[in-house]
Amino acid sequence: MARKVTVNLYMTLDGYGEFPAYPGSDFIPKDPDAQFKEMWVDRYPEVDTVVMGRRSFEGHLAVHSEKARKPEDPWYLFEYSRWLDRVQKVCLSHTLKETNWQNSRIMSGDLTEIVNRLRAEPGKGIIIEGGPTLSHEAIQRGLADDYRMVVSPVILGRGNHYWGTMANQQTMKLLSVKSLPYGELVLHYEAVR
Ligand SMILES: NC(=O)c1ccc[n+]([C@@H]2O[C@H](COP(=O)([O-])OP(=O)(O)OC[C@H]3O[C@@H](n4cnc5c(N)ncnc54)[C@H](OP(=O)(O)O)[C@@H]3O)[C@@H](O)[C@H]2O)c1
Repeated sequence: MARKVTVNLYMTLDGYGEFPAYPGSDFIPKDPDAQFKEMWVDRYPEVDTVVMGRRSFEGHLAVHSEKARKPEDPWYLFEYSRWLDRVQKVCLSHTLKETNWQNSRIMSGDLTEIVNRLRAEPGKGIIIEGGPTLSHEAIQRGLADDYRMVVSPVILGRGNHYWGTMANQQTMKLLSVKSLPYGELVLHYEAVR
């Protein structure tokens, strides 16, 4: 079966890829909530590759690798970090030449060719995990089979936009929608081709 490519988006109501503060945004549950389960925990068995732009890659290494975990972090964030350390990570960059994060490689060039090359390699699902600049390009080029979005209840008005102007309409089929206690929405759409 072909490898599925999913774009993960964390965005405000107006489409910015930012993590603004709002009532409840700083609450870290003891166990994974529905959002964390749907975006990560439930997908551990079916995904083995995570693609990130260089800024997001460096951000994830600094915050989400197991080495970066703090003792007070809940158990499922340690589990997430171990999973992230273990999977194949693709960092897209023209400037980064090497990295000490295990199971990582640096690629550069045309995004469509890179995604097609990854799809042709043996493996499980692929997540394009941002940031917004990279995700915007993947969306614009119609590279995703599906989209998982966490929408925060904020109209922010500035930042890095996921959508922007695009040459072609993209039609989605809604597969699921959940609302969380602090007003976030978790959406799952399939790309209609
Ligand atoms: N899931 C997430 O990671 C996420 C979600 C929401 C918001 N954010 C926020 O978004 C910010 C980072 O996102 P961003 O949009 O600024 O940057 P980004 O997409 O993470 O990284 C952009 C960089 O990726 C490299 N790149 C992208 N396409 C490439 C290609 N085809 N070939 C070679 N290199 C390529 C370039 O790196 P070089 O400059 O090295 O060439 C480019 O400068 C952070 O502030 C983060 O908090 C992140």
